Amino acid sequence: MTKIFAVANRKGGVGKTTTAIHLAHGLAIKEAKRSGRVLLLDLDPQGDVAAALGLDPGGRCLSYVLTGQGGLRENIMPAAHDGSRGRENLYVLPASDELKQAKAFLQQQAAIGVVMQQTMGRAAEVLDPDTALEYYLGPAKDLFSYIIIDCPPSLDSLDRAVYRFSDAAIVPVKLDYMSTRGAGRHTQNILQEQAEGIDIRIAAIVPTFVQSQLKLTQQMARVLMDTYGRRVISTSIPNRVAIAEAPAHGLTMFEMDPEGEVAEAYMALVNKVA
Ligand SMILES: Nc1ncnc2c1ncn2[C@@H]1O[C@H](COP(=O)(O)OP(=O)(O)OP(=O)(O)O)[C@@H](O)[C@H]1O
Ligand SMILES: [Mg+2]
Repeated sequence: MTKIFAVANRKGGVGKTTTAIHLAHGLAIKEAKRSGRVLLLDLDPQGDVAAALGLDPGGRCLSYVLTGQGGLRENIMPAAHDGSRGRENLYVLPASDELKQAKAFLQQQAAIGVVMQQTMGRAAEVLDPDTALEYYLGPAKDLFSYIIIDCPPSLDSLDRAVYRFSDAAIVPVKLDYMSTRGAGRHTQNILQEQAEGIDIRIAAIVPTFVQSQLKLTQQMARVLMDTYGRRVISTSIPNRVAIAEAPAHGLTMFEMDPEGEVAEAYMALVNKVA
């Protein structure tokens, strides 16, 4: 049975893409022993996933799949390249700016569906945003043991589709000092805002950008534990410059520093949800 995880948080810059990439790569390393394959799906028109892994999408994009213009096989690419490690069974379905048009197209289809329903009194045989993901990406379940979705901060028209297609959410929560400073808001509110609006089971909450020596971080971590429980909270990802630098080399921390604390923390997340 394929497990599908959406890495989601309505807030921007909390570590969604970084977490999605490391979760997918970590799962691929773990799955190699069982010859399972992992698909990393980019749902953000910014298309950061392929670039961060050092890949050139070469015209491949999720938008072609979601509009029926292209197949899964033509748009999915292998993640391995010269210099990569442990990616033999990792694959990417990249995104580009075209994804914005694809979303608009799906919304138009939904509108046509409503009109057809009203004028012809029967359900339209067109796809709307809510069902498109399941319809077009469903066949990928035969090919992969895990599908990881890197969500943009605002899912807008696709959020119901993502939650319908996914089994559970992985929610990175930024535990940094700066996000609370000056705003005069309570820690609790800030944490709750970050995990808001997620309509499916939360498989893991991942504290990111953690500077454990800071008192405020410790306080936020305690609130997180009290709110969601120890079972859901994953090992903290420390705030490290190396994490931000790795994408410039097209590598993950499993390649940059496989024995390091960041690789270890992301592997703990892998083991928690696998
Ligand atoms: N633990 C960390 N320590 C230091 N830098 C990090 C860490 N996690 C992520 N970063 C860096 O912070 C920036 C934002 O991270 P990322 O792109 O993963 O967030 P995001 O939630 O996907 O953002 P967006 O909402 O724009 O999609 C990136 O430059 C990334 O490399
Ligand atoms: Mg992102």
